[in-house]
Amino acid sequence: MARLEIAGLTKRYGAVTTVRDVTLDVADGEFLVLLGPSGCGKTTTLRMVAGFVEPSAGSIRLGGRDITGSPPWLRNTGMVFQNYALFPHMNVAENVAFGLEMRKVPKAEREARAMEALRMVRMEPYAGRLPRQMSGGQQQRAALARALAIHPDVLLLDEPLSNLDAKLREEVRVEIRQLQRQLGLTTIMVTHDQEEALTVADRLVVMAEGEIRQVGSQQDLYERPADRFVAGFVGRSTFLAGRVAERGRFVTAGGIGIAVPDAMAAGPAVLAIRPEAVHLAPPEEEENRLAGVVEFVSYLGPLIELHLRIAAGEKLVVHVPNRAGIRPPALGESVTIGWPRAAGMVFPDAA
Ligand SMILES: Nc1ncnc2c1ncn2[C@@H]1O[C@H](COP(=O)(O)OP(=O)(O)OP(=O)(O)O)[C@@H](O)[C@H]1O
Ligand SMILES: [Mg+2]
Repeated sequence: MARLEIAGLTKRYGAVTTVRDVTLDVADGEFLVLLGPSGCGKTTTLRMVAGFVEPSAGSIRLGGRDITGSPPWLRNTGMVFQNYALFPHMNVAENVAFGLEMRKVPKAEREARAMEALRMVRMEPYAGRLPRQMSGGQQQRAALARALAIHPDVLLLDEPLSNLDAKLREEVRVEIRQLQRQLGLTTIMVTHDQEEALTVADRLVVMAEGEIRQVGSQQDLYERPADRFVAGFVGRSTFLAGRVAERGRFVTAGGIGIAVPDAMAAGPAVLAIRPEAVHLAPPEEEENRLAGVVEFVSYLGPLIELHLRIAAGEKLVVHVPNRAGIRPPALGESVTIGWPRAAGMVFPDAA
């Protein structure tokens, strides 16, 4: 069993705290994705789990064993680094066998396990190549084989697809996911590609400024974001500043009254609305109906994006599904839009 328990994990560099009090429980065989903007502490967190960065506080347990103070080669974590970090003077097979050498595995077994790992990522034909003789995608696969060769209890992937083109990325992420399932590997993958995160994850963790903001399923993060940051980071939202006048009623800074869920008491607030939650020409009885002027139209294929001015200085982004026969509104046209009360998400303005 390779359950990973991270508790109160913190990293300080001098006076600056880059990871603060991260607590996470990753189930045996779970695929967890760490998502967050650049510099939020994702790599630092993974490196602490792998043993390359010493935590300032907190603990890490793997399969019930405390590994917080263990050196990397005694923790049985396989890591794929953001920049692959293959040794340039070693060929692929030697690179893949390196971790086994560190773990004092006998030579014959090392070679067999290196080839087995290369087979898993379909890189056997490249065993004799040097890193500089391979494409970025091939190097990334070799780095993955190196992590798999040690038969890790936990696989740590730091943006393993960052240097692949869009099409290859989609292929490799599916391969990684299938391999991970097949091997039942407990995995943490870092990415800042949202679509990638949503596609492969069992569960997601959103980080910002060194802290966990929310842990949950795709649907949790998208439909019930914990705060304003998550609402803007996972998927798209239009934000309108204003205040909750009374429970269930929001008034924008421009004075537009909007029915919202009654989650928040009166006070300064921000309202977030997903572009696809708004529809054109709503029925008479729709809870929110308002007028807007089209300021921008963008044809995106499956949908048409409109930017509407709903009051001086207040805009709303709307996605209209591109159904057969639809006529997108023209620039400058006045339209009526609407959305149900439940589609609004209100957050305290301080968040
Ligand atoms: N050795 C170090 N000394 C001082 N500060 C560091 C060190 N390593 C990382 N940091 C800082 O810690 C913060 C988090 O860095 P980290 O590499 O974990 O971010 P990240 O979330 O992986 O970002 P990215 O998406 O750009 O890879 C950054 O502000 C970074 O400058
Ligand atoms: Mg990083």
